[in-house]
Amino acid sequence: MCGIIGYTGKEQAAPKLICGLKRLEYRGYDSAGIATFHRDDFSVFKRKGRVSELKGGETLQGNCGIGHTRWATHGAPSERNAHPHAFGRFVLVHNGIIENYLPLRKECEGRGEVFASETDSEVIAHLLEYYDSGDVLAALKKTAARLTGSFALAVMCRDEPNVLYAARRKSPLIVGRGKDGSYIASDVPAIAECEELYTLRDGEFAVLDGDNIRFYGEEGEIKKETMKLVSKADVPEKGEYAHFMLKEMHEIPAAIANSLLDFEENSCFSAINIVLCQTEYIEIVACGTAYHSGIAAKHAIEALARVPVEVTVASEYRYRDPIVPKGTLVLAVSQSGETADTLAAAELAKSKGATVIAVTNVPDSSITQLAHFVLFTRAGREVAVAATKSFNAQLALLYSLAVALARAKGKRADPELLRPLPALSEQVLAETEQMKEVAPLLLDSRSVYFIGRGADYCAALEGSLKLKEISYLPSEGYPAGELKHGTLALVDEGTPVVAVLTQHALAEKTMNAVSEVSARGGKVLLVTNLPEYCSHRSVFRSFLLPPCEELFSPILSVIPLQALAYYTSLARGNDPDKPRNLAKSVTVE
Ligand code: M6R
Repeated sequence: MCGIIGYTGKEQAAPKLICGLKRLEYRGYDSAGIATFHRDDFSVFKRKGRVSELKGGETLQGNCGIGHTRWATHGAPSERNAHPHAFGRFVLVHNGIIENYLPLRKECEGRGEVFASETDSEVIAHLLEYYDSGDVLAALKKTAARLTGSFALAVMCRDEPNVLYAARRKSPLIVGRGKDGSYIASDVPAIAECEELYTLRDGEFAVLDGDNIRFYGEEGEIKKETMKLVSKADVPEKGEYAHFMLKEMHEIPAAIANSLLDFEENSCFSAINIVLCQTEYIEIVACGTAYHSGIAAKHAIEALARVPVEVTVASEYRYRDPIVPKGTLVLAVSQSGETADTLAAAELAKSKGATVIAVTNVPDSSITQLAHFVLFTRAGREVAVAATKSFNAQLALLYSLAVALARAKGKRADPELLRPLPALSEQVLAETEQMKEVAPLLLDSRSVYFIGRGADYCAALEGSLKLKEISYLPSEGYPAGELKHGTLALVDEGTPVVAVLTQHALAEKTMNAVSEVSARGGKVLLVTNLPEYCSHRSVFRSFLLPPCEELFSPILSVIPLQALAYYTSLARGNDPDKPRNLAKSVTVE
């Protein structure tokens, strides 16, 4: 989380920094700041709130500067805690978490140094000042060696006005060379105009001085290959849509079509096929929406391939000393490929002998470096914090993998069943404006419940997550049969309950739960592909899905739920693209 940027070159730095920060805002947006170097000193401009608050900073003079957009971890979102942080001759921006900052801060305070913020990051500037004796790179290496945790750093020193220093451990950082100078950034779109891009790896450093870029590892200077971008680095635009979330929902059919695996054409198929043949057990590790796609995948894989699957929240997996039997395949699912918990879980599984396949949407992301194999969802860049098309793309890819695994195990599984999904999703999308009328029903509710059984439970979980993260309404996803074991106590007159029902064999069971809700005054919205239940007397409103292979139905049933969250968020006056307290890529623990 947090986005950082740096520029050194022929042009004024401030407008470039602010432009880059706008493109990094998906990483955090509770405060922002820039620093430039001009006439022997730093000028720092920071504000609480979004990058748009930095307008006044555009006039800061200087050809070298750094910038930051923050997602607060240590210290409240405030101007005081906003980056850049300066001490002595140094000013810096940091993305990551310094886990041992408290003892380090004590050490610095013991020397009489005074801190200006409550952040973990400021201690880095103090250590740099302490260790610097004329060789900034050496000071940066010594400082990095003292830090526990994760960091992507951009540093300026008063003694070297046009030079930027960068360091990375477990937080993404790229370096670019453009026509007008050199750049550092957390992600490609911030510096999309650069002609050459380089990924900094853990433990590496970079020194940028105008056009001159040098890279260093622990042992000394190193040469780096330029990044091979799968597609041209795009700068996302909303186009005709009011929000990125809405635009990205409309990209779902393409995301599904592009992510369905054509195994015959996939160059890594033969290697993966060997792994699939040897797989006895699958563990899926992921967070948030990606975790929900893991739950849907479990249903499909177990049903088609009869291989047991566990799905574990990555932050739990990494601390539970997991058992990794022979023949374990770990699927690490992450849209961004940068989620710290998922990376750590995958690393742990790998160290215990599992084969790791990463499922990610971002080429060159950290997870692609550590996995044995990578399968890319091809959803295109996703900007809205609330994941939509990337979820549908993950499902498309994981369903394809379930089919491939079944075939590798000699079971019957027909890939043709996947083919209609893009067109069906198009049909569903065309109906989602209905949710505009449903949203007002949720506005004043104290809480909303989402229920479903089997594969429908996964859609219920994801629908609930979408709603809570962008509308701020308390919401829970529940297995429909579990409601009566406690949660039903919370249902009273008018409580909205969204029931997902696409599994024919479970239909009557889910309808029991619907009736129990309705009998207590709850108002049920039924999302189903079984038209006979739409007019059931316990159903308040319904949304009819087109028929599709039941096992794959979450890829469709989630779409009206995404739309419901979107319209509810709007009706509550929120910005659906940038929900409070959240960020798109969670690179801290
Ligand atoms: O990039 P990842 O898929 O690893 O991200 C995992 C979660 O942080 C993410 O899905 C989060 O839950 C979304 N905001 C949900 O909309």
